[in-house]
Amino acid sequence: ITEQQLRPALLKEYIGQDEVKDNLSIFMKAAKLRQEALDHVLLYGPPGLGKTTLAAIIAHEMGGQIKTTAGPAIERAGDLAAILTSLEPGDVLFIDEIHRLNRVIEEILYPAMEDFCIDIVIGKGPTARSVRLDLPPFTLVGATTKAGMISAPLRDRFGVLARLDYYKPDDLAKIIHRSAYVFDVELTKEAEVEIARRSRGTPRIANRLLKRVRDFAQVDGHDRISLDMAKHALERLQVDPLGLDHIDEKLIKGIIHRFNGGPVGIETIAASIGEEADTIEEVYEPYLLQIGFIQRTPRGRVATPSSYTHFELEYRKDG
Ligand code: ADE
Repeated sequence: ITEQQLRPALLKEYIGQDEVKDNLSIFMKAAKLRQEALDHVLLYGPPGLGKTTLAAIIAHEMGGQIKTTAGPAIERAGDLAAILTSLEPGDVLFIDEIHRLNRVIEEILYPAMEDFCIDIVIGKGPTARSVRLDLPPFTLVGATTKAGMISAPLRDRFGVLARLDYYKPDDLAKIIHRSAYVFDVELTKEAEVEIARRSRGTPRIANRLLKRVRDFAQVDGHDRISLDMAKHALERLQVDPLGLDHIDEKLIKGIIHRFNGGPVGIETIAASIGEEADTIEEVYEPYLLQIGFIQRTPRGRVATPSSYTHFELEYRKDG
């Protein structure tokens, strides 16, 4: 079973994110009625929530193909021109990590998005000339975990802005149920709910935990995964009852023990526990903020009383 097979192909199979789904469904219907390409879509939110999946669904529903690239992968104007000129009418160009596009590339993207054309410069020096190429009507779907880092001119050229949020436990349990069906494994309802609870609101994590739980069950010769079986596997995976892993623990305990609970700057805490500041900021921190375990203040990150309680530490702020 590939990742591809796990991903829903149609909007009606996509679980959760109801507001985004309902709006997209209207916008796609309207665009189809007008026989136009869907307006450009910016998807933003924490990693693993289904931005790539939604981009593929948009292409599928609009009857086009998807071409996928990522901000850091487009280094030269020619790289972007090559992709843009390979598009067919109604295709989706998916640019992941779009906040990491460089400015020169962004400038080429503006007329491509607004007028479906690009100006490319041929030759060098005094004989250089600019040629305008027409592009087919297409939909740019951009994805980012850092909406704040997108330049205003680029952001303003997206007609549809959609924020993905962490999934509710109910929706995650449904996703796990669906994935289990695709994997041809059976779990009790309680086991599904337990994995959902420990998946940090994130389908990518839910699917990964499901696969590993399945491994434990398979080796132990169980054909239906019970709650106990799931709990046992999750403990072996060092995923705690809230879904926090070793790095979350290191991060929170680092703030508490080394910086007296904070405030401490992200770079400082990152260096102190030997993790990348970007990874902490984009992957670990958003969920810890969401569940109220850390707070961002102007002077840095602070561990909240909930953190102390969870790790059975006494909340005592002193020097
Ligand atoms: N797999 C990953 N995300 C999903 C979602 N939102 N709905 C259904 N299956 C998924």
